[in-house]
Order: sequence, then C-alpha cells, then structure tokens
Amino acid sequence: MKAIYLTGFMGAGKTTVGEKLAAEMNLPVLDTDQEIIKKLNKSIKDIFEQQGEHYFRLEETKMLKELPTENIIVTTGGGIVIKEENRAWMKEHGHIVMLHADLNTIYDRVHSDQTRPLASKKSKDELYQLYKSRESFYKDCSLLIETDHKNIEVIVKEIKERL
Ligand code: S3P
Repeated sequence: MKAIYLTGFMGAGKTTVGEKLAAEMNLPVLDTDQEIIKKLNKSIKDIFEQQGEHYFRLEETKMLKELPTENIIVTTGGGIVIKEENRAWMKEHGHIVMLHADLNTIYDRVHSDQTRPLASKKSKDELYQLYKSRESFYKDCSLLIETDHKNIEVIVKEIKERL
C-alpha cells in the first residue's frame, strides 16, 4: 500500500489523527518534524532561530524523501505543501489527505504555542493570511476532510472509508 500523507495547517490535528489512523490500520506513523528534530538534535524553534526557515525547508524536503513510501502514514509539517517538489513527491508516492479546521479552532490551538515559530505571537488575521497564501496547495490533495465538530473516531472512520 502506498503511503498516506496527512497535510493541513498548523493545529489542524495531523499528529493526533495520524496516530489514531496508524493504530487502526496497523501501520507505522512517522512525523517529518519529529524526524528532523531527531536527526538534527534540535527543536524546530531553534532551527528556525539559528539556521532560518530556508534551511528548515531544505531539511524538510530531504526528510520527506528519506522516509519510506510504502505501508506507512506520514504526518507532515504545515508548510510542506508550499514546495511544488514536495507536493509532486507526495502525489507520486501516496495519497494526500488534507485535514481542514476552522480558523478560530486553529487560532485557539496555536497562537500561544512557543514551539511553533510561524504561529506564536501571530494575530488571527496574520494566521489567516498565511493560511490563504497556502490554501490552493492544501486543496490540491486526494482527500479533504473537514474536522470541525467531529470527534477523532469519526474523522478516522471517514478517512478509511473515503480513501
Ligand atoms: C510549519 C508547521 C510546523 C513546523 C514548522 C513550520 C508551517 O508543523 O513544520 O513550525 O510552516 O506551517 P505543524 O503543522 O505540525 O505545526
């Protein structure tokens, strides 16, 4: 089975959904950010602060391509979709499942999260602008799942049924 790539904006629930989906499908799950943290032995915040976003994006693409592409669920960082190269890789090697959540939900989850350099201290409007600049890339997916007002069981069931 081809890989399942979970995409979506920060705070959309990729990690939580990925773990539950993996457990139910009896598949391993790997997270691009967590693998980068392990490889570089540094937090995402420190990488952004010390090496910058450009460097992080290079590492992110490298990591995406290093991960297995069969029988696996890959949860991705919210910005993975901004590079055409990454989108092409995910399309070629798997199914892209995008998780969508309302901006208010996203804002509540991420605005005071110090571990997310592109979200902490951003106003709701700034977050919205960032989301809007990526929206067409997120929507370029195999499956778009609306997550608002649904519990995790329902979300996972919907992914399994619609894939
Ligand atoms: C980012 C999202 C983060 C992380 C990094 C950049 C983004 O992942 O990769 O802070 O550009 O949206 P999450 O979506 O898991 O927060």
